[in-house]
Amino acid sequence: MSESKHKLIHTFGALAELGNEVANKSSFQETIKTSLHLVLGSLGIMRGGVARYSRFNHEFNMVAIRGLGEDFPLSLSLCYEDERQFLANGLEPMEIEQAKVLPFFQVYDKSFERAKLALMVPLVIRDETVGAVFLVQKATGEPYSSYDREIICAMGRHIGVAVAQRNLLAELERRADENRKLYDEMRTTYADTVKAFAAAIDRKDKYTEGHSVRVGKYCEIIAAELGWHVEEVEGAAVAGYLHDVGKLTVERRIINAPYRINAKESAELNKHPGVGYEILMPIHHPYTDVPLAAKYHHERLDGRGYPDGLYDREIPYIAKVVNLADSFDAMTTDRPYKRRRPAGEVFEDLQRNSGKQFAPEIVSALFRGMLQEVSGEVADKKFRRLLGREYMEAENIGSILQGALSGAPTITPINLMSTDN
Ligand SMILES: [Fe+2]
Ligand SMILES: [Fe+2]
Repeated sequence: MSESKHKLIHTFGALAELGNEVANKSSFQETIKTSLHLVLGSLGIMRGGVARYSRFNHEFNMVAIRGLGEDFPLSLSLCYEDERQFLANGLEPMEIEQAKVLPFFQVYDKSFERAKLALMVPLVIRDETVGAVFLVQKATGEPYSSYDREIICAMGRHIGVAVAQRNLLAELERRADENRKLYDEMRTTYADTVKAFAAAIDRKDKYTEGHSVRVGKYCEIIAAELGWHVEEVEGAAVAGYLHDVGKLTVERRIINAPYRINAKESAELNKHPGVGYEILMPIHHPYTDVPLAAKYHHERLDGRGYPDGLYDREIPYIAKVVNLADSFDAMTTDRPYKRRRPAGEVFEDLQRNSGKQFAPEIVSALFRGMLQEVSGEVADKKFRRLLGREYMEAENIGSILQGALSGAPTITPINLMSTDN
């Protein structure tokens, strides 16, 4: 076999290997190292390097380097003129000696001379400079033939594609990261705004201080117990936080009345679900129908609620969750005309009204959440923070809850002793 044929076969082999290397999934660094090794090996070149171009910093950053010396720069800056010329030149190998008119070769003249560089190949892929290959003289000392240049050009294209792919991936990752950050920021802003709003609603009602915030937290616990997705749980909390937003338009005198309000005042107060809906409607709520939760949080399964007297299936599910959380908070906090009720009595009430006012599985979800905390299954003492330590420890809450959940009779000594009913 003639030497040129042998060389041709060898080169084809190297090109095929390079193609494989670029296509397979080994790390970028490894791919470039192997590529450099193949280029050097197939043409009998002892030393060289491959750089990646950063268009943000306008510089070449060496990715693989072999034998160019300790002091060879790892980053090489380009000016506008260099960038323009490299792009126009394309993948054609440039003789370092002849390219000295360009600022790039003047700036790094000393380094290139020390490393004895002979060629530089700008890696231009789809009209974009993505990197460069640096090569010294061939080991034989012969000048590069046009045949050699063609091989370098073909191999440069393969390497360039690998670098371009990598750049594309890095850019995609950067954008995805940016979007993630923006999304997180928006989510935090939304959550903070909702909480600030809930606090504003609660400020208006001095007797039920913290009501909206607590209802939000109960909704969150119930939704999590119901096995909702994390974003739906967040949505349920928002629905709870904002359920009474309509109260902002109700006279403070009625909200804060230290007595049972009369029919007229009651009619005024009962407008708050509808007003809340109007307020929340124009806002986009990503995870749940917050306006509908506000509108129907006083509806009951048996149709005796307000404002529309809806029956069970007509009531949006989130409104049922808020309804239970709302009622639970009303029962477990002091009101101007009524002290809060003991836990056993509250559980009995919720059970008795399961299927009438409350959806039974939502009541069970609340009980389960509470039982998990009482039995020490969960470390986070949410109920204790919301209801106070004595409330959670005063009675035999664990066994009452267990009984309620297993469908056992709910009459307990506490209930029998209770007079407030
Ligand atoms: Fe309400
Ligand atoms: Fe409420």
